[in-house]
Amino acid sequence: MTVTSSPAALPPLAARARTVGGSPVREILAVTARPEMINFAGGLPAPELFDREGIAAAFRAVLEEAPERALQYSTTEGEPALRQGLAARIHAQGLPTDADDLLITTGSQQALSLLASALIDPGDTVLVESPCYLAALQVFGLAGARVLPVPCDADGVDPAALQELIRAERPKLLYLVPTFQNPTGRTMPAARRAAVATAAARHGLWIVEDDPYGELRYDGERVPWTASFPGGEDRTVLLGSFSKVMAPGLRLGWLRAPAALRRACAVAKQAADLHTPTVNQLAAARYLDVLDGHVAKVRTVYGERRDAMLAGLPDALPAGSAWDRPEGGMFLWARLPESYDTTALLRRAVDHDVAYVPGEPFYAADPDRSTLRLCFVTQTPQEIAEGLRRLAKSLNG
Ligand SMILES: Cc1ncc(COP(=O)(O)O)c(C=O)c1O
Repeated sequence: MTVTSSPAALPPLAARARTVGGSPVREILAVTARPEMINFAGGLPAPELFDREGIAAAFRAVLEEAPERALQYSTTEGEPALRQGLAARIHAQGLPTDADDLLITTGSQQALSLLASALIDPGDTVLVESPCYLAALQVFGLAGARVLPVPCDADGVDPAALQELIRAERPKLLYLVPTFQNPTGRTMPAARRAAVATAAARHGLWIVEDDPYGELRYDGERVPWTASFPGGEDRTVLLGSFSKVMAPGLRLGWLRAPAALRRACAVAKQAADLHTPTVNQLAAARYLDVLDGHVAKVRTVYGERRDAMLAGLPDALPAGSAWDRPEGGMFLWARLPESYDTTALLRRAVDHDVAYVPGEPFYAADPDRSTLRLCFVTQTPQEIAEGLRRLAKSLNG
């Protein structure tokens, strides 16, 4: 490369890219890959439970039987076999769905980006739960949205506060993870979902219902999707993912949306990656036949791990701490006494070879710095117990 003697300064990054810098938490957590680390920070499915044989068999079958299709470009909307298989599953869970209602996405994270492209103009208002899934905050921030938190309690968004914010702020969409939320693990009861759907219908806004964890239920009763409550049907975009039930490395998700919005998302997807890898889609379509059996095994193991973490917490966290008992999912959310700042304490925890995610980055505004998120599925009960002992030491240190 030739360099001129007085090079002109390069044009700056786009304003949206300049606003999303690195964070000190990311830098500290970068060391969590060390083998001696007990990592409660990542949202990683337990690797030893990946169904290597079953997934390999699905890929082998697809590559032996239809290589010319599996290795070829596909349509942006997704492979018909996968869309049909998913539509049947969603339908069987109480939400009438045709294959045509679905767009296959490269992970549900891509669905969030596509929705932002299709719906958000800079300056538009987006309402989120408080706290909220971190990477959704990033997507909406990158799109230039004004992101406002809706006050929440143990059952999720507070309907009265939601109504008030809708009236005052005229948001375009409300983003929710109603089942086993990331980061809190909490689930919105049916009455809350009904109230949210009614409010959205009355005031005219989109609901994005992100549900990567719903199939990981360890006890209690399934709550119907918000998309199925009166008022929610024509304005709720439902997102699903294979990441937590099959394997995140496949990067497979889906989006169920009304036709006009789905078409706009398909155009955005065409611009982003043309389509999701064909071979992964066809293998996943085959794997759907055995998915329920696999999920049942995963549920049993994860349920034991949740219980192991719940059993260890009283001795690990300082007196005055509080946490909930999630009925499913991957995360436990804890609040320490007010004097504890979990962002400041993370370095010490990592020095003790244990990691968590401080609560702060999950808040769109006014972070509660005494909170933290612990993932309970990645380690064995023995490792969880040891990790909690290390955490206790680091908090007492
Ligand atoms: C609430 C939520 N939405 C979306 C995603 C992204 O998942 P995927 O791997 O399907 O892109 C995650 C991943 O942790 C998540 O917790």
